[in-house]
This record gives sequence, C-alpha cells and structure tokens, in this order.
Amino acid sequence: MTVSASVSAAKGRILIAGATGFIGQFVAEASLEANRPTYILVRPNSGCPSKAEAIKALQQKGAIIVHGMINNQESMEKILKEHDIDIVIAAVGGGNILDQITLVNAIKAVGTVKRFLPSEFGHDVDRADPVEPGLSMYMEKRKVRRSIEESGVPYTYICCNSIASWPYYDNTHPSEDIPPLDRFQIYGDGSVKAYFVAGTDIGKFTIKAADDVRTLNKSVHFRPFCNCLDMNELASLWEKKIGRTLPRETVTEDHLLDLARENIIPQSIVASFTHDIFIKGCQINFSIDGPNDIEVGTLYPDETFRPMDECFDEFLLKMDKKPAGGDDNIAASNLMVQISAMCA
Ligand SMILES: NC(=O)c1ccc[n+]([C@@H]2O[C@H](COP(=O)([O-])OP(=O)(O)OC[C@H]3O[C@@H](n4cnc5c(N)ncnc54)[C@H](OP(=O)(O)O)[C@@H]3O)[C@@H](O)[C@H]2O)c1
Repeated sequence: MTVSASVSAAKGRILIAGATGFIGQFVAEASLEANRPTYILVRPNSGCPSKAEAIKALQQKGAIIVHGMINNQESMEKILKEHDIDIVIAAVGGGNILDQITLVNAIKAVGTVKRFLPSEFGHDVDRADPVEPGLSMYMEKRKVRRSIEESGVPYTYICCNSIASWPYYDNTHPSEDIPPLDRFQIYGDGSVKAYFVAGTDIGKFTIKAADDVRTLNKSVHFRPFCNCLDMNELASLWEKKIGRTLPRETVTEDHLLDLARENIIPQSIVASFTHDIFIKGCQINFSIDGPNDIEVGTLYPDETFRPMDECFDEFLLKMDKKPAGGDDNIAASNLMVQISAMCA
C-alpha cells in the first residue's frame, strides 16, 4: 500500500499556541484557509484590544478558542486530551521560548500528538551562530530541540529564514513597516544574500509540512530561489516601486556589533541576527544535504512562493496607492509605525 506523502494525519486537529502573535497569525490563517480543524490557545487576560480583535477574526473564520498557557502542564494535558489534538504548533515569542519545555512534557505524557512544531520560524539554530544577545535566544531554542528529541515526541523544525520586508536592524516585526522612503541603511557592502519569505507563505508551507510524512523529525528549510536577494538588490527593487532613487548609507559590521553589545532587548537581538545574516551570511553559508534536512520547494514543486516584487507592491498599497508622493508616503509610513508600536 502506498501512503500519500502529505496526508498521513489527514485533517488532523491542529492546536496553535501564539496565534495572536506576528508569525502565529499567519500560521492560524493558513490552517483555516486549508480547512483544517484549527484550535487556538489563548492566554487568559490577553489584554490588548488589537489581540482581542485578532482572536475574534480567527474565530469568525472557524477557529476554536481554547484558554490556557503552554507552561501549565496539567492544563495542557487536559486540553490535548479533551480536543484530541493531532498536531501542536507553537509560535511563542523570544521571551517565552523555554515555556515550551513544559509543553513538550505535556505532549509526551498524553502520547497521542502526532507532530510538534516548536517556535522556530527563522534560522537553523543548530547551525547559525550569532553574537550575543541573539546567541542566548538560540541556546534556548536549541534546549527546546534537545528536550523534544530526548522525549521522543515526533517533530518538525521550520527554518523559514527572513520574513519578506525591508530588514530593519532594530525591528522584530519588520514586515509591519513600510520599506525606507528617505534613505537606505545597507549592512556592510550590501552583497550578502538572504532568503525572503512572505508571511502568508510561512503559514502556508508550515501547515503543509505539519503532517507530511517526509518532514517527520526533520528541519524544513525555506530557500525560494526567486527571493534570494542582497541588500543592494532589495534597495533597487524598492526604488523601482516608488519611482525614485534614495541615498544609500553604509551600516558597518562594527556598528551592528556595537548595537548588539548595547544589549537592549529586543532591538539588540535583531542587530545580532542582522549581523549574522548580512555580514556573516548565515542563511547561505551551508548546504542542506544532511539526512535531517529537507527544502520546502523540493517537497511541493507545484507550489509557488510569492515573489518579493509582489510583496513590495503590497507595501505600496499600504501607502494609500501614492507611490511617488514623497511627503505623503513618509506620513503614511510614520502612521503605520505608530499603529504597530501601539501593541508591541
Ligand atoms: N523569520 C522571521 O523573520 C521572524 C520574525 C519574527 C519572529 N520570528 C520567530 O517566530 C516565533 C514567534 O515570534 P513572534 O514575534 O511572532 O511572537 P509574538 O508576536 O511575540 O507573539 C507571541 C505569541 O505567543 C503567545 N504566548 C507567549 N507565551 C505563551 C504561553 N506561555 N502560552 C501560550 N501562549 C503564549 C502570545 O500570547 P499573548 O497574546 O497572550 O501575548 C502571542 O500570541 C519566534 O520563534 C521568533 O523567533 C521569526
């Protein structure tokens, strides 16, 4: 009998922790889009009104709300059993990475979860080696990996690289902000390439990989060839979109290291990752031919990634469809920054 590659746990129930977060919302949306039975774990007293709105929007699309916290083993065991959860996806933020150890213990105790996807959604943390304070976050993510592997819980690690956006060196959620309208800050000589993936594609391919037998106990790497770009290419692409050129200012390696050393959390963490990506080339300096590596494009050759060109078009739309209107655009950009800062 042949087993279909992507339907081992067809339509299994998916529980998403962190669905009100930046990455988690893309994952939850994609799960609902794929008509998966989608449960979202909401922390009691999730205060911010924008989060309440996000929860309501997901609920209206069919998500089932479950209240709980991943760092409470007893309640997590109850939730997993009561709802007969097949797949658990965690998208908790950088400050809560170690909370997942309790979740792993709960998944192990229940024994019926077919796959766990921990909160990764970036680089391969066993290979990348950023300076501090990014390194401490990776050490926590590595600790979670080791606890999963020791527990025997089936897992998949999503290594999706950078979200499609201008990679601001101090911004944890850069795709919420419009690319520069006054000047580009280019890291080093701007020639080191990185992979940019639209948030919707991070969600879509995470859900596809979540119960694919080929991704069992593997790291899934997102390397869309069409979106492998360096800073200079990214700047030129954006210049085409806005119909004018902008001055390019160099941000040196030393400056990024100084920003990292300041240890202002989370900005210094982003500075250390920016250094790792655009100076050291951490996304492109290794091949993914190990027995536990798999590239998402080879898994789903018929699926396309959103090109960066299209993602930039979306930023233009956010600027109220006024691509060449200097001051208006800056005002629109500032407004977006203010809105996204309100609930940061
Ligand atoms: N590739 C990229 O470009 C990129 C960019 C950003 C982040 N990331 C990665 O993506 C992952 C998610 O980060 P993020 O920035 O999306 O996070 P985020 O926006 O800070 O959201 C975190 C989410 O986790 C929930 N949460 C936190 N602790 C929890 C707990 N103990 N129990 C249940 N829920 C809990 C929060 O709930 P509340 O609503 O209650 O606060 C929130 O929904 C991280 O691993 C991060 O490193 C990658």
